[in-house]
Amino acid sequence: MVDDPDSSDPAVTIEAGRLAYRKVVNTTIGLIVADVQSNASGNLSAHFAPLLAEVQANNTTNLAELVDNLTDFFSYNTGGTNAVNTYSGLDMVAAHNPAVNTRMGVKATDANYTKFEGYVGAAAVQNGVAANTQLYTDIVAVLESLRDPIVQ
Ligand code: HEM
Repeated sequence: MVDDPDSSDPAVTIEAGRLAYRKVVNTTIGLIVADVQSNASGNLSAHFAPLLAEVQANNTTNLAELVDNLTDFFSYNTGGTNAVNTYSGLDMVAAHNPAVNTRMGVKATDANYTKFEGYVGAAAVQNGVAANTQLYTDIVAVLESLRDPIVQ
């Protein structure tokens, strides 16, 4: 366990592996939002519209929940066995079907998926996960396995 840099309370700790994923998740969301704000081509504003509208209105409750869920998802699927890493959200097909999950603004295309993977890869590199590490390999393996269920 290491000190949780997001808490001013020194008693609050977090697993080092979970912290690494959480950093990558936070950076990924930051990159997605930055592209929406600059209206960059291929940005994912339509998909994340419900979440972005809330954040714009200073309501970050669901954003925090998404960060936690995504961190659980990556930790759990790469072998995190402690209870804190248990993922209990929707399965990937349901989570990315706007008819089931109204938080998914529109369906993701192949191009959207590739764009999303690019954000995650850039976020990993920005957080010091070099491409030749086991952690990076684990992230890529999970990403590669999910294109089919998520693009629907
Ligand atoms: C490796 C690829 C991906 C993974 C592992 C992933 C994982 C997840 C997870 C765990 C959730 C939370 C589900 C829940 O709360 O029950 C979620 C929600 C969501 N995902 Fe993905 N996702 C991926 C790709 C994508 C792509 C490509 C898009 C859009 C282009 C996308 C858009 C969304 C949206 C809009 C939500 C709802 C966010 C909200 O709650 O406001 N995801 N995803």
